[in-house]
Amino acid sequence: MFAAMIFDMLIRGGTCVTPSGSAIATIGIRDGKIAAIGEFKAAAASVVVEARGLHVLPGVIDSQVHFREPGLTHKEDLETGTRGAILGGVTAICEMPNTKPLTLTEADLADKLARAQGRAWCDYAFFIGGSAANVEQLGRLEVLPGCAGVKVFMGSSTGDLLVPDDETLGRILQNGHRRVAIHAEDEPRLTARKAGVKAGTHVREHCNVRDVETGRLAVERLMRLAVQHHRRVHVLHVTSAEEMELLAQRRDLATVEVTPQHLTFTAPEAYEALGTYAQMNPPIRELRHREALWHAVNSGLVDVLGSDHAPHTKEEKAKPYPESPSGMTGVQTLVPVMLDHVAAGRLTLQRFVDLACEGPARALGLMSKGRIARGYDADFTLVDLKVKRTIESNAIASRSGWTPYDGKRVVGWPVATIIRGREVMRDGAVIGSPIGQALRF
Ligand code: DOR
Repeated sequence: MFAAMIFDMLIRGGTCVTPSGSAIATIGIRDGKIAAIGEFKAAAASVVVEARGLHVLPGVIDSQVHFREPGLTHKEDLETGTRGAILGGVTAICEMPNTKPLTLTEADLADKLARAQGRAWCDYAFFIGGSAANVEQLGRLEVLPGCAGVKVFMGSSTGDLLVPDDETLGRILQNGHRRVAIHAEDEPRLTARKAGVKAGTHVREHCNVRDVETGRLAVERLMRLAVQHHRRVHVLHVTSAEEMELLAQRRDLATVEVTPQHLTFTAPEAYEALGTYAQMNPPIRELRHREALWHAVNSGLVDVLGSDHAPHTKEEKAKPYPESPSGMTGVQTLVPVMLDHVAAGRLTLQRFVDLACEGPARALGLMSKGRIARGYDADFTLVDLKVKRTIESNAIASRSGWTPYDGKRVVGWPVATIIRGREVMRDGAVIGSPIGQALRF
């Protein structure tokens, strides 16, 4: 007869969301990788995770977070940011370069990688900022181990990273080969419009200051340059119907990200209810745009869901608009907020997995992540699709200590996080010590 199959870990009896659909199965893990998927009559493992009644998703990857280290660690750091990630069912993150100093050089990247070592609860990679200062080196920098690629701010947001002109942006697109992540807002239009904002203006004007045309113009300029230089781009946090229309014409070069908050909130309601907690760049917009984003999600135009987790302290957020900084937390709430949308029938669970697991892996070229298949990393987000829970600021690990979803009742919750065959979160408690490693591309 057959000898018992021996694994390091078995995840038993959950409904596994695989490329061929969802089915109840047991997953066998060896050496941090998925070794077998099926029904094993005779299997043994030192660790058995009972997943009956749960859905087993590939580990959720949040490819846009700001964790503020170094330099702005009163808002967040790599330990608190990644702790929030695993508590929210996220197994890997890509972190943005608008820290202090900016992440512009090999030494800046090495510093972040050294800081993450032994302190990151989930796997990680860091974007290099593209700027006039490092444009000639980008082709070399983007392929360094632990680098998620190059990120460009076309419009100014938090921090000093900025590429306002086509000349520099064109040079950036000519230096290197990987997909370039872009914050697309048109700086000249932004500067002109910001100059007109008087003290005492209500934050609900944020979406008129940084208006649809500010985003549309930038995407139009970007598409022209991407075609000219034949370079792939990843357009972050797209917010409007008009931008989606342009992006639909350039599926050869552009991938598209949306955030849970742009799929959830609308203007002016969010600004009335949340004040500056609803302020982010690019802004929360009117219902018409939210509906266009959902259409883009369900028609296949959107490639990736990212949280744009961008914490600022409550004190900073209490400043009167427009001095209040832009950004909201999101890494810990991405999964529950989107599962709630699944429960409400706005997207399927399979599509969520496509956007939050496979999508980032495909767009950024991640190795062996994002899919439940033999040989892939044993990263899993175990979710209970039925449970009703309330999102609360006091459960948010972020140093900033708040979420715009405080008090929101949701259906669906991440109940366990497994990274490379190690359970790191169960029922809202972190397990063990930080085991995060650099992602490979
Ligand atoms: O709202 C935002 N906040 N948008 C960005 O692009 C940056 C981010 C931050 O780092 O605070």
